[in-house]
Amino acid sequence: MKTNLIYFSPTETSEKICKSIAKGIGFDTEIFDITPYGSDVDTLISDGISVFAFPVYAGRVPLIVAERMKNIKSDGSAAVAVVLYGNRDYDDALVELKDMLNDAGFKVIAGAAFIGEHSYSSSKTPVAKNRPDEEDIKKASDFGKAVLEKFESGNTETPEMKGNYPYKERMGFKDVTPLTHKHKCALCGSCIKICPTKAISFEKGQIVSTADKCIMCCACIKKCPNNARYIGAEPLLERIDMLHKNCQTRKEPETFL
Ligand SMILES: Cc1cc2nc3c(=O)[nH]c(=O)nc-3n(C[C@H](O)[C@H](O)[C@H](O)COP(=O)(O)O)c2cc1C
Repeated sequence: MKTNLIYFSPTETSEKICKSIAKGIGFDTEIFDITPYGSDVDTLISDGISVFAFPVYAGRVPLIVAERMKNIKSDGSAAVAVVLYGNRDYDDALVELKDMLNDAGFKVIAGAAFIGEHSYSSSKTPVAKNRPDEEDIKKASDFGKAVLEKFESGNTETPEMKGNYPYKERMGFKDVTPLTHKHKCALCGSCIKICPTKAISFEKGQIVSTADKCIMCCACIKKCPNNARYIGAEPLLERIDMLHKNCQTRKEPETFL
């Protein structure tokens, strides 16, 4: 038996939790990382347990995930729906993911919402800093053990999960993209390599972002070796200030079995 790990994880919190859940399940693993540009997967999964882990963007599953998932199908094998959120709320994302997996032919036997450091978190305005932490990782592994127990009992019932349909309306900031401190940028190109949407390029000896491709996942900010990428757009800075002020009370993972 095998555990399939399917994740989209620009800042790696979904990946960490997905791997910890898989560790708890204990089967051999196959990884489908749909984060890199061009990593769309076309496959029919017929057995084992598939753990899907994705970040919450504005209370929903990111649109890019729906696009990259559209050719992952099943003929009734077991799946686990997992969302990672930055200590504000996951709103309707978990129910949406459960519905997506159901439509793709999976039997969703469990779900969970875990907390990951907010993509917009910084040293000045930390939100859920260093989550998932050791406690979260242990909870993820214990959740994996409980999933295995349910799977082995033959119970394939889909549990009720928190969230609503119709889902929350999609929201986002238009024409916003991380900026580059030119004096810090070494033009190493690592942001270009890791951008999941190929929104960054070299133009006339400078790093340039294309706003209509950028999903503001913040991978380029968190992974820049020189801390040269930053958020500078005023409306988004106000939002970050709000998150920093209002989302400090630690939330705990929720599981549904
Ligand atoms: C565009 C965008 C929207 C987000 N919206 C929410 C949200 O509605 N609620 C929340 O708690 N966190 C939100 N977050 C934070 C991420 O869900 C969280 O940091 C997650 O752990 C990131 O996953 P990753 O590390 O796998 O990329 C948002 C992040 C981004 C980039």
